[in-house]
Amino acid sequence: MCVVVASAAAVLLYVLQADPDRDLDFAVPRTLLVLAVLFLICDSTPTALTSRQSAWSPSSSATLAAVVLLGPGGAALVGASSLFSLRRGGLRERVFNGAMYTVSAFAAGAAYVALGGRVGIPNPGWFPGDILPFAVAAAVHVAVNHGLLWGMLLLLPPARVNAQRGRLDLHLPLLLASDLGYATLGLLIAALWYLVGPFAAVLVLIPLFVARWAMGQFAAQQAAYAATMAALCQAVETKDFYTRGHSERVSRGATMLAREIAMGAERVEAIGFAGMLHDVGKLGVPTKVLQKTGPLTEEELAAIQLHPMRGLEIVRQIGFLNEALDGIMHHHERMDGKGYPMGLAGDEIPEFARVIAVADAFDSMTSTRSYRGARSVGEAVAELRKCAGRQFDPVLVDAFITALQRDGWRPSKTADVPPGFRAQIAAQDHDDPTAPLRVVESY
Ligand SMILES: [Fe+2]
Repeated sequence: MCVVVASAAAVLLYVLQADPDRDLDFAVPRTLLVLAVLFLICDSTPTALTSRQSAWSPSSSATLAAVVLLGPGGAALVGASSLFSLRRGGLRERVFNGAMYTVSAFAAGAAYVALGGRVGIPNPGWFPGDILPFAVAAAVHVAVNHGLLWGMLLLLPPARVNAQRGRLDLHLPLLLASDLGYATLGLLIAALWYLVGPFAAVLVLIPLFVARWAMGQFAAQQAAYAATMAALCQAVETKDFYTRGHSERVSRGATMLAREIAMGAERVEAIGFAGMLHDVGKLGVPTKVLQKTGPLTEEELAAIQLHPMRGLEIVRQIGFLNEALDGIMHHHERMDGKGYPMGLAGDEIPEFARVIAVADAFDSMTSTRSYRGARSVGEAVAELRKCAGRQFDPVLVDAFITALQRDGWRPSKTADVPPGFRAQIAAQDHDDPTAPLRVVESY
């Protein structure tokens, strides 16, 4: 952080030196002011890309417009105005962001000028000659910005950044693409300046804000989906108390595993939903069967084994789940074909279902049950290894263990069950590979 701030301070000192030959012409303070205001408006109201992910602001359009209209020095000053952004939190975050934007804007400006880009209000004669320097400047801006941000995150202790990095990770391609897109708007502002002056900023801002409003609506819809899913999980966990938090942890484990095997961002998100809802079909299983402590009758076992189908029936109409439906339907299939409901074997089992099966069994084993204490992570890993090939996909078991070693695991705390709930805790768990469901002997 000190290096970034010191570099920014050096850039600003260099820019502000009263040397009339420098590329910042103080005869155009109005341009500077308009662009700084534009930057602050953009930076103060970021768009939520999706409900749960990071937000990115279109402020780079102002910075890149400054690169063309004012040169590297002016761009650095516009970037430095991030210090006064309404959105930023504490002083440290403000200072770091201000410094980061100063350095990246100056680097972009320097690249633009070095490649022969002309500084000032563009006229039609500048095009297409100045497009290439501008494109490089935009790429440099994005690269320096994200490079500094990532460098910072890599240096922080993992515990402090894991959540934030997870968010950035998931949407990095989207962030880079949107940032480059916003940077391109900078050229549009600069080009329009020739015709309408500072009003160019307003002309570009209006459609931008309409588009962002529409994206906000989309984000609100995503939030509604998430709330719906949380409500469904809550319903399952109310009915079957011992699985409290289980859906959430299976979702986390499945997401870890999906990232480890390099699934794309959209599939990672979908498998998170699938993990969340994998046991939603328990809503269709009689409560007394779920909570029965003794051996089950054939009919009761059949009722439990029907829960993946019931789950599919419940959520089939939810369009955005797509591939997640496969995960819900087949999460109890086994590699040797002895699972349920379809008895699929090996690669016939959808990948989502194979991933969820591993995370599901692992969480079940590391949680406390009324018939046994929680197993340690090491014991659960050994059990997964033992069942790899027969019950679980061995490649996925290995990948899950690697992910566990990297990210760690926070097991459940179901041990402290309130006394009133003790009677509601089942003495068996259909997810536990070490304690299969017991069935009454038939005579
Ligand atoms: Fe299940």
